[in-house]
Amino acid sequence: ATIGILYGGLSAEREISLRTGKAVEKALTGLGYRTVGIDAGRDLAAQLRQAGVEVAFIALHGRYGEDGTVQGMLELMGIPYTGSGVLASALAMDKVATKKILLHHELPTPGFAVLTAGEDRSSLLERCRHFPLVVKPSREGSTIGISIVHDREELQAGLDEALKCDSLVLVEDYIEGLEVTVSVLCDQVLPIIQIVPKDGFYDYNAKYTAGQTEYLLPAPLPAVLYERLQQVSLRACRALGCRGAARVDFMVREREFYCLEVNTIPGMTETSLLPKAAAEAGLDFAELVERMLLDAGL
Ligand code: DAL
Ligand code: MG
Repeated sequence: ATIGILYGGLSAEREISLRTGKAVEKALTGLGYRTVGIDAGRDLAAQLRQAGVEVAFIALHGRYGEDGTVQGMLELMGIPYTGSGVLASALAMDKVATKKILLHHELPTPGFAVLTAGEDRSSLLERCRHFPLVVKPSREGSTIGISIVHDREELQAGLDEALKCDSLVLVEDYIEGLEVTVSVLCDQVLPIIQIVPKDGFYDYNAKYTAGQTEYLLPAPLPAVLYERLQQVSLRACRALGCRGAARVDFMVREREFYCLEVNTIPGMTETSLLPKAAAEAGLDFAELVERMLLDAGL
């Protein structure tokens, strides 16, 4: 079968997707699969048809790729694809929708408020009494458009910044604590990684520049907490209806933990987390990629 690796795309995470895509392409080619790399633009359907793609490996991050749109198009075209389906992708791309699902399932997530573009800010500002807070575009990735704010003035600026990325903005309680991530692969939970960014904030630079972050793997957490985080990650993925690979991000404060979000197309660059967790579980990069591909129904 001809495997189309869909990368690049139209989102703000395009550069990261190119890195994920190239790594996936190299691995699949190395394993002897017939691959074709496709930069997923507006003409994606025509490109897929022209290249005779029979299975799609989606290596796109962010909007128009991780959010259910490309998945919907592939459903319509009858092309099997890696990862989550339309609904899970759309829900997980949207941090506000994700939090509502988590709360419905009684899974812990930081307290929050939302603002939509054009909405009057006064009641939100009135409600935001305790700082710091984190302001996030609801549907974005790789920390793009996110600010940690310490007072009303910074909050205003943070809202402006996030609104540049999305018409829906999430204002979330800042959890002072440890940042950990739990990868899930085909309903199997992988070892937990604790993330220790050198400058304290795991932002775009800390995520994608080698040497900017220290990774503790497996995360040195108390056993009970470790197991609970793994269980909650699986439950979060099931609640959203995820398939294939996913990565669930948390903040941990003492014995409490809070789920921030679920990523349905986790980064697979040289510094990314899912490949590290898979390696710790004994799966090298090529094995991980092949597992994801086979799960698509090749
Ligand atoms: N959004 C980036 C790619 C990640 O979660 O790894
Ligand atoms: Mg994300």
